[in-house]
Amino acid sequence: MNELEQAWQNFAPSCERNKAVIWQTIKPYLADKQSLLEIGSLSGQHACYFSGQLLRLSWQCSDIAPNLPPLTANIKAHGSANVLSPIELDVANTLHWPKTPFDVIYTANTLHIMSWLHVIECFANMSVSAKSGTLFIAYGPFNFGGKYSSESNAEFDIWLKERDSQSAIRDFESVDDLAKQAGMELAANIDMPANNQLVVWQFN
Ligand SMILES: C[S@@+](CC[C@H](N)C(=O)[O-])C[C@H]1O[C@@H](n2cnc3c(N)ncnc32)[C@H](O)[C@@H]1O
Repeated sequence: MNELEQAWQNFAPSCERNKAVIWQTIKPYLADKQSLLEIGSLSGQHACYFSGQLLRLSWQCSDIAPNLPPLTANIKAHGSANVLSPIELDVANTLHWPKTPFDVIYTANTLHIMSWLHVIECFANMSVSAKSGTLFIAYGPFNFGGKYSSESNAEFDIWLKERDSQSAIRDFESVDDLAKQAGMELAANIDMPANNQLVVWQFN
């Protein structure tokens, strides 16, 4: 175990690889924002890195209950003062969504992990924590036109489904339909390294 792995619970090597490029890409969208809710923070590596670059942005981490103790410990150890204590948020539970609206809702690598039903519920419930103008930013892999965007994503999808039959790389068009039904419009769909996307929707 290296030093970083020792310092973080639930350490995700992928976050170390992608955090700098995600930060460069989302920075312009956060420029005038005050509050952000992150869904599925897991280790909190993104939260600690991004919020440390933008100290006036209040960053609310969240995750499902089993992941809260390690996330809370990581935020205490590594978070700057603008990272708030993590809250329980299962996207499928309407009561978990904070009723105070956020300027931005952010999530990385979650839509292909949670079940499709939970993706539907995530979009259906999100308005509880949003207002007109709120951005929803989602990072991760997507299929386009019913096709994998790379051979590596096709292999990743097989691995995902072997691990959990409910997980799968989602069709971008189906997710965009959910966003439209939830009252959002597509603002950007940016190609990222390793065949990932950074997608930005905005609430009308
Ligand atoms: C692959 S991890 C991604 C973690 C981190 N965002 C990253 O980029 O490394 C998937 C995350 O989705 C979360 N998740 C799965 N189902 C969820 C649900 N129903 N509601 C909220 N989060 C969920 C998991 O708990 C986990 O933190």
